[in-house]
Formats: sequence, C-alpha cells, structure tokens
Amino acid sequence: MNIQIINGPNLNLLGKREPTIYGSESFEVYFEALQKRFAAEKLHYFQSNVEGELVNKLHEVGFSFDAIILNAGAYTHTSVALHDAIAGIKTPTIEVHISNVYAREEFRHKSLITSKCIGLITGFGMEGYAMAISYLLNRQK
Ligand code: DQA
Repeated sequence: MNIQIINGPNLNLLGKREPTIYGSESFEVYFEALQKRFAAEKLHYFQSNVEGELVNKLHEVGFSFDAIILNAGAYTHTSVALHDAIAGIKTPTIEVHISNVYAREEFRHKSLITSKCIGLITGFGMEGYAMAISYLLNRQK
C-alpha cells in the first residue's frame, strides 16, 4: 500500500516540544522504525507548518494513494480548508493525535476534520500512527 503520513504545525518539534505530552522521540526516528515495522508498505512522510501546504499535499496524493494518516495538529480545531480538502479527495483519511485531545483543553475537543475521516485515533502516543496502518492492512484482507 502507498500510505501518506501528513503532520501539521509544530509536529516538526516532536522530541523537543512539551515532552511530557508528546514524548521525547523525534518523528524522523519514529518514522524509520515504522518503515522497518511495515517494510512491505510504501510509507511517505510530509510535515508542514503551513495550512495551504497541507491542503496541497492532500490534493497531490488524494487521488492516487491508498490511504492518508493525518495529524493536522492545531489546524484540526480551526481549518475549514482541511475539512474541505479531505471531503474533496478520494483517498480515505485517518485522523491521528498523539495526545488524548479529549483529556485536554476544551478548544481541542472540537475537530473540523473528523466528520470527513474514516476514523479517529487519539491518545496512544506515536503508536497511533502504527495503529492506523495496522487497521488499513487488516481492512484490506
Ligand atoms: C495534536 C493535538 C492538537 O490539539 C495540538 O494542537 C497538536 C498536536 C496531537 O497530536 O496530540 O499540535 O494533534
């Protein structure tokens, strides 16, 4: 499977950013382990702090890839553009959050993208990305 992982704003700081919430591993290190773990799949990784670049990436892969795993970071809670982009593409998208957004501030309880995603994984740390891939592989059988 061709699977695109997309991380949104501030997720380039994973490993440095609020480690008590997000852990101490960088995404690059985690992604290498993920590629080894799911060696039969083609995993692609893209990160941007810019909302429009996330929209562009969704458009770019959203008609040809098998799945998208999207952690839209703070744009989850604000972005009509991401909602519309996911609605407009064909590739199924899974929403992932490292932290449990429902155990945090109230402004994180609202997601503008969940309704356009096939499902939501939140609160399982980086393992959430692996959980999303496992689901996609099982669903394919
Ligand atoms: C996050 C949760 C968001 O509320 C936050 O803005 C992030 C990270 C998560 O992975 O837990 O940047 O998406």
